[in-house]
Amino acid sequence: MKILITGARGQLGRDCQSVLSAAHALVATDLPEFDASDAAQIRDQLAAVRPDVILNCAAFTRVDDCETQRALAFQVNAEAPRLLAAAARVLGAHLVHISTDYVFDGARPVPQPYGENDATRPLSAYGASKLAGEQAVRASGARFAILRTAWLYGRHGGNFPKTMLRLVLAQPELTRRVIAEQHGSPTWSWRLAEQIRAVIEARAEGVFHATAGGHTTWFGFASAFLAAMAVPHQLAPCGVADYPTPARRPVNSILENSRLKAAKLDVMRPWAADLAEFVARHRAELLEEAQAAISRPQRTGAKS
Ligand SMILES: NC(=O)c1ccc[n+]([C@@H]2O[C@H](COP(=O)([O-])OP(=O)(O)OC[C@H]3O[C@@H](n4cnc5c(N)ncnc54)[C@H](OP(=O)(O)O)[C@@H]3O)[C@@H](O)[C@H]2O)c1
Repeated sequence: MKILITGARGQLGRDCQSVLSAAHALVATDLPEFDASDAAQIRDQLAAVRPDVILNCAAFTRVDDCETQRALAFQVNAEAPRLLAAAARVLGAHLVHISTDYVFDGARPVPQPYGENDATRPLSAYGASKLAGEQAVRASGARFAILRTAWLYGRHGGNFPKTMLRLVLAQPELTRRVIAEQHGSPTWSWRLAEQIRAVIEARAEGVFHATAGGHTTWFGFASAFLAAMAVPHQLAPCGVADYPTPARRPVNSILENSRLKAAKLDVMRPWAADLAEFVARHRAELLEEAQAAISRPQRTGAKS
């Protein structure tokens, strides 16, 4: 199939390129040459490429920045999927769009998971913009699959485990406090790319939850990652109140992949097994990247 990927140089987009290129013809696009929220660029690009599948990995993912840059958040996370869905409908293409656990308020008692049909109620501008994107795709009349994922990490781009690694390598003597009051499923972007491939090849349609199996907290995630990396570290669990952020985040981000399982399409694995494989595959590169970053000023902004 011919697949157009937007946001192709992001964390997930890079892994999707690797996973999908084995069997499909890819056209990889990203800023600055292709703005997925620009109607004219979409029209011209899609008329030239005529893809069978549009895979939308483009997003404004800096959750806290979305609170102050609300218009941009809605432009990228809601208007771009609306335009892509409209184009997909005209072309007869399958739109595969990525969404988030942050469409839920997380008020459900842990560890009860959210299913695809549960009521949404985002707590943040990011979550609201992503929900608006979902609604636009659903209303478009296009053939679509929306995959809601959570707590993504991977080899490319910035993410939580990379930040933790950099912090503990920079100052191993410091005890780092990590939130133990939010619960979710750390999800490897490589595995999610494999899940996306399965959805594309099955031409599956509808809303799907797509996270790793099991769940933990940010503290549990950081502890498991740093132990697997075998780097000296000292972590202490803390509460949400100890780590105030501009955007509110769900306490319970646990999603159940009910619809993927029902369709026999679920390729996701337990989070701890994937984390171990991620470290086994990338430990040396991760250490090298972290050491190099310690001497450089960092871009800030927690992603989701
Ligand atoms: N990261 C997580 O923990 C997480 C959790 C749940 C769901 N998700 C969802 O998963 C998807 C992939 O996330 P990710 O972690 O791969 O994010 P990412 O690394 O931030 O990648 C997003 C990519 O989209 C690009 N982009 C931004 N605005 C664009 C525009 N107007 N037109 C075209 N491209 C644009 C970004 O470019 P710049 O870098 O230049 O801005 C970046 O390359 C997103 O839909 C996100 O909402 C992520």
